[in-house]
Amino acid sequence: MKRILTGDRTTGKLHLGHYVGSLQNRVKLQDEYDTFIILADIQALTTHFEQPELINKGIYDVAIDNLSVGLDPNKVTIFLQSKISAIAELTVFYSMLVSVNSLRHNPTIKTEAKQYGYDDLSYGFLGYPVSQTADITFCNADLVPVGEDQIPHIELGRKIVRRFNDLYGNGRVIIKEPQALISETPRLIGMDGNSKMGKSLGNAIYLSDTVEEVNKKVKSAVTDKNRISVKDKGNPEICTISKYHKAFNHEEYNNICEMCKNASIGCVACKNDLSKKINQLLEPFRERRAYYEENIKEVRDIILTGSQKANMIGNETVDVIKKAMSIHI
Ligand code: TRP
Ligand code: SF4
Repeated sequence: MKRILTGDRTTGKLHLGHYVGSLQNRVKLQDEYDTFIILADIQALTTHFEQPELINKGIYDVAIDNLSVGLDPNKVTIFLQSKISAIAELTVFYSMLVSVNSLRHNPTIKTEAKQYGYDDLSYGFLGYPVSQTADITFCNADLVPVGEDQIPHIELGRKIVRRFNDLYGNGRVIIKEPQALISETPRLIGMDGNSKMGKSLGNAIYLSDTVEEVNKKVKSAVTDKNRISVKDKGNPEICTISKYHKAFNHEEYNNICEMCKNASIGCVACKNDLSKKINQLLEPFRERRAYYEENIKEVRDIILTGSQKANMIGNETVDVIKKAMSIHI
């Protein structure tokens, strides 16, 4: 069975953007692939080192989000990054094979640095794509389902792996070159029309939102501002709601755009339709979430068991890598 590795920073609850970007693919592929889900608490530290208690809560938030969308703990391995010593060790070895400039020019690093207002980056933040390469390769993952913002990191990871194999492989492949699996759904914009949906921007619908929260957020979303009365013809191209219909109500998307353009649907009805669709999607998630929230000890056991398994695999990988590098006596 080929292997998947993917995961999330444990900085807080996951939203619909995470779902269409990666979680949906995780659920779909869990029967076909030996799936590993990383709760990236060390990577969370790179931006939230001043709030470690927030990261601690985030571990449970993110684990339950993953379980609630339908990842089966009997099939997938959910583990905590900070418990896997192989990840720390591989990060150090890989750090020799990557230039500071290539990290500084990484577009996702640049965007995030701007978003967090960093001008002088910490060593840990600048280097997190190297650590992410260790996340992916400690278990020799074949496939990494991620949103498109992660492409530069996967590319960097592939370069590191190639470099490693060239240098130390003696003609053999020591570490597998991972491949990104990018979601077909384009990145979701925020409810406020901001190009990014994000926690810090307050414009996200969370997987854990209630029916009322979803309704309220959809109701307040930005539509075609020129459409003042129901009789005005609308332009779905510039409307946030239409983009969400495309992602969550795909069958009716074309129809809705037509009705908007010829003013045969009002924005209130259009929004109600969307809320209904999103709530339909979230309903089964809410049921599973309620179960895990009531059985939090079970969540902890899932993470500990997963981490134990990941550690065994990681330690074997470190042995192979050290041997290839002649780091032994
Ligand atoms: N950087 C990813 C994000 O921000 C999270 C992540 C950490 C990850 N380690 C990973 C994703 C390994 C895929 C593979 O969403
Ligand atoms: Fe947007 Fe729907 Fe209103 Fe058109 S009808 S502007 S798609 S909310």
